[in-house]
Amino acid sequence: MNEQNLRSRNWFGRKGKDGFIYRAWMKNQGFPDYEFNGKPVIGICNTWSELTPCNAHFRDLAEKVKHGVYEAGGFPVEFPVTSLGETLMKPTAMLYRNLASMDVEESIRANPIDGVVLLCGCDKTTPSLVMGACSVNLPTIVVSGGPMLTGHYEGKSIATSDVWRLQALYKENQVSQDQMITMEAAMCRSAGHCAVMGTASSMASMIESLGLSLPGNAAIPAADSRRKTLAQLSGLRIVEMVKENLTLSKILTREAFENAIMVNAAIGGSTNFVIHLLAIAGRIGVDLTLKDFDPLSRNIPLIANIQPSGKYFMEDLFYAGGLPAVLKELDKILHRDCITVNGKTISENYENAKCYNPDVIATVEEPFNASTGLAILHGNVCENGAVIKPSAASEHLMQHTGKAVVFEDIEDYKARIDDDNLDVDENSVLVLKNVGPKGYPGMPEVGNMGLPKKLLLRGITDMVRISDGRMSGTGFGTVVLHVSPEAATGGNFSVIQTGDIITLDVPNRSLHVDVSDEELQRRKQNWKPPKPGAERGYVSLYINHVEQSHVGADLDFLKGGSGSEVTRDSH
Ligand code: FES
Repeated sequence: MNEQNLRSRNWFGRKGKDGFIYRAWMKNQGFPDYEFNGKPVIGICNTWSELTPCNAHFRDLAEKVKHGVYEAGGFPVEFPVTSLGETLMKPTAMLYRNLASMDVEESIRANPIDGVVLLCGCDKTTPSLVMGACSVNLPTIVVSGGPMLTGHYEGKSIATSDVWRLQALYKENQVSQDQMITMEAAMCRSAGHCAVMGTASSMASMIESLGLSLPGNAAIPAADSRRKTLAQLSGLRIVEMVKENLTLSKILTREAFENAIMVNAAIGGSTNFVIHLLAIAGRIGVDLTLKDFDPLSRNIPLIANIQPSGKYFMEDLFYAGGLPAVLKELDKILHRDCITVNGKTISENYENAKCYNPDVIATVEEPFNASTGLAILHGNVCENGAVIKPSAASEHLMQHTGKAVVFEDIEDYKARIDDDNLDVDENSVLVLKNVGPKGYPGMPEVGNMGLPKKLLLRGITDMVRISDGRMSGTGFGTVVLHVSPEAATGGNFSVIQTGDIITLDVPNRSLHVDVSDEELQRRKQNWKPPKPGAERGYVSLYINHVEQSHVGADLDFLKGGSGSEVTRDSH
């Protein structure tokens, strides 16, 4: 692409009054004339926010990106977009993923931008930015913020997955509030996102395996100086990508998505990966369905020994060779010729990678766990499918039949779960309804609901749990998630009752309730939809347009893209 073809010339290259206005107001920031002389304009899409602690170091990263852009002869412009902080936003950051993606899409298209660097970190900041950018389809590169350093408390490592164990210990009075407060500081001791293979790390790994970042992006700790180097090199590279017109759709092929699915299985990535990847595929126009995940994941063993499926932390993965070493181990399985942002194929990027610690990155022949990362279930509980993460579940519950104990919504669950009179034992199947996209609304991460206190006190640590919600990528247990259709839409899941017999059969990918079709139909005649969660504003728009989880829970009118053309020109 020569400089006259740059999209930004339609702003800064104009003569007369229009060009005057476009350039003059930019000059109030002190930019000299030569910045406007046909340089590629690189938007740095920043999700920095003090309310998104995982991304709070992004101003530093943006500065390094700018260095790279300037070095390569580009003109960097940083702009903020909606930032989704997983820990603070209520009712759930997922409610706002699609909103943030709209912000990203419209901000890119409306402005004089030739190429984009996406600064992503905390869980939803990655899919929202990539979804929005896909709907514009400019040359785009991702810089992830990197994981926190591993926490340490009383001589032991501690990270986000321990929060779930702590919750149980706290309920059992084995950990005091004072100890919890000391642990908080010990766990979150550096910049960065969750230090395990939670959703943020799974998203960063997804980005690298899709080819959307420079090699090594997934695991370099946020506090490591090489994270800054990667940001600078990404700034350098995006200018070249603009010249090569290397757009997102040239990288995000069907094969690239298949690579991402296989890698996610091998690293024990988050179940949230499924929903976000489907949404991204929907934006870029790649035909990907929930059914594709199971055959692609099924024969891929777990080779990354990272919590919550394994033992170690993202920092250890980095020292062991990072994601490139994982990719190299999967060489015989992956599509080797997928092009990546640096213009090389994915296999060229990992060909010199080495594993430095076989206790962290195992081989395909001798994996840590023969169970694959994810399995897709079907049956009359979930007509459109459901998701389970066998690598984070209990082997003895992989085939299990038990009586349902049904909670109609999260308030019902909270009110009764610790009631001594609740008729529940370790063989029961806990069912939580109305935590899906429309029902909650926003599909919160409550699927790995805590066990009843009376069972915890007896030493029970896992039970089969089923919901139409999600689970934190840091969570674990025999937890069936993303049941579709969700309870709020009146499918079979809506009418499951306490006492129904449910059979989970993960080897056969089945989730079945022993109730006849006739009885399910009879129950549906008496079923009433829950009250709408909102009658105005974005939440109302979301409820009316959000799709079911098995197709990515995007808003129906956001599917696909509108390209980078500005349709009307007011000047
Ligand atoms: Fe931000 Fe875990 S809370 S990545």
